[in-house]
Amino acid sequence: MNQGAAERMKGAAVKVTMLLFVSLAGAFQAVGQQRAPRARARPARAPDVLFVPTPPETVAEMLCLADIRDGDVLYDLGSGDGRIPIAAAERYGIRAVGIDIDPKMVAAARENARRAGVAERVSFLQEDLYKADISEATIVTLYLSDGLNLLLRPKLLRELRSGTRIISHDFRMGDWKPERSVRVNWRNLYRTIYVWTIPAHGRVQGRKNNRGVLHQPR
Ligand SMILES: C[S@@+](CC[C@H](N)C(=O)[O-])C[C@H]1O[C@@H](n2cnc3c(N)ncnc32)[C@H](O)[C@@H]1O
Repeated sequence: MNQGAAERMKGAAVKVTMLLFVSLAGAFQAVGQQRAPRARARPARAPDVLFVPTPPETVAEMLCLADIRDGDVLYDLGSGDGRIPIAAAERYGIRAVGIDIDPKMVAAARENARRAGVAERVSFLQEDLYKADISEATIVTLYLSDGLNLLLRPKLLRELRSGTRIISHDFRMGDWKPERSVRVNWRNLYRTIYVWTIPAHGRVQGRKNNRGVLHQPR
């Protein structure tokens, strides 16, 4: 097997691992819900993807690739336990916002921020990431799926200012080519981080259709 094929298999193995984890998490969650149907707060609707954490080394590299400067505001869309906004506030001193549809994840993230001593700079909102106001973000981080990223793309291009950096763990954005993709070793596999920048309006090499979708020449 050539090196390219081996590397593609490694990347595929990470995605299969994540899908298995998500399926198992869903099964366990379903069992838990059967045992205690009214014991816990429920999301307004089912999350599009369940909580799977980004490993710490990958969080660190995502923040490094975000090229953080004074005054930046980071939004993590689907923030889980809050690790990315909390790390941004702890290590770079910036303000950060996490958005998650699951009230249990929002409560856990708030508690984690309080314990880390960054609750004043970090906030967590229980909202649907597709409906939330994200216009103040200058950095957006994602760990969702290829399909969910693609659904999100028109909103990112419509609502974010030019120069805003988008950093996605493991998932791409359809035919919008990332300007950087970086691999981070993880066990005997790797994670991939993709980076895009919202283009200056009218200066992009490509065109936007009337839904704000960017078409780039292939
Ligand atoms: C794979 S986890 C990523 C967590 C965190 N960003 C990280 O990288 O460690 C995805 C998170 O997205 C949340 N989520 C799924 N669908 C959502 C939606 N429509 N709106 C907001 N959050 C959502 C889930 O509850 C889950 O916590």
